[in-house]
Amino acid sequence: MRVLSGIQPTGQLHIGNYLGAIQQWVDLQTKHDCFFAVVDLHALTVQQDPKEFGRATMEKVIELISAGLDPEKCTIFLQSHVKEHAELAWIFNTITPVSELERMTQYKDKSKKNKENINAGLLTYPILQAADILLYQAQGVPIGKDQIQHLELTRTIARKFNNLYGNTFVEPEALVLPEGAKIMSLVEPKKKMSKSDGAASYVSLFEEPESIRKKFMRATTDAGKEITYNPAKKPGVSNLLVMYSLFAEQSIKDTEKQFQGKGYAALKKEEAELLIDKLEPFRKKKKELQSRDLYLKEVLKRGAEKAHSVASQTMEAVRSKLGLLSL
Ligand code: TRP
Repeated sequence: MRVLSGIQPTGQLHIGNYLGAIQQWVDLQTKHDCFFAVVDLHALTVQQDPKEFGRATMEKVIELISAGLDPEKCTIFLQSHVKEHAELAWIFNTITPVSELERMTQYKDKSKKNKENINAGLLTYPILQAADILLYQAQGVPIGKDQIQHLELTRTIARKFNNLYGNTFVEPEALVLPEGAKIMSLVEPKKKMSKSDGAASYVSLFEEPESIRKKFMRATTDAGKEITYNPAKKPGVSNLLVMYSLFAEQSIKDTEKQFQGKGYAALKKEEAELLIDKLEPFRKKKKELQSRDLYLKEVLKRGAEKAHSVASQTMEAVRSKLGLLSL
């Protein structure tokens, strides 16, 4: 199966992203023909500082490899290195009704939050995403729940193009993770973990041990003292249990048993040590990669070449179906 997914270059990877997405990518790369794009063009819908942007983009590549993506097993590339993404997005612009774009939840949220910069790219963002996916004829697209609507639109675009111009695109399926993989904020455990809610609310995948200890000790817990899984009544403790279970690779039931008769403090303490232990290889690998500029450039070059060889074939077919002349 061909698999494609994308991640924005901005923002550090935290354990929520890892357990909710990247870990699945790491697993998929051993089973399927995977393409993973750092979607730098998408990130431009928010104004970026050019100096910082390049650094952040490379850092995201480093973080993905540190988290377990292996350039020998999958194709890692930058979206902007494969010009066909922008080209196909333009074509899709011409067959997508504006009204469908205006219905997108992410567009509505982002334009509400970002009133001073509601640019056209914010609206057409899902069209570029459709191009990312359809260029590679991906059958499977690992995404979080928040991206299902964009994938539905991608399917609609594929179907529409196929109907108008003849069968060209594969209709992709979402590979959505089970609910258990949703990690909540350490401060407000009813909200999804997000780096935009302040440093105390998330643990970076590359966090230093001392800082991990502090964040867990301060994590919000609930009334009572029993360590039981009950997201409605005990959101804080339940979130700690979910994270513990995922990192320890054991069931929530077993984790409850393990902490039976112990207090919240013990859970937090043991959980911090478990994470310090589990995250150490990621931290090490990131440090190592930070001085391997040449290697990283080589990875991106190979990635771009591989991606381009697939994308250009699709684009060739699209051009010919549309009646765009070749030289
Ligand atoms: N929009 C996605 C997000 O915000 C990122 C993305 C861009 C993506 N292109 C993609 C995800 C293609 C899957 C497939 O998370």
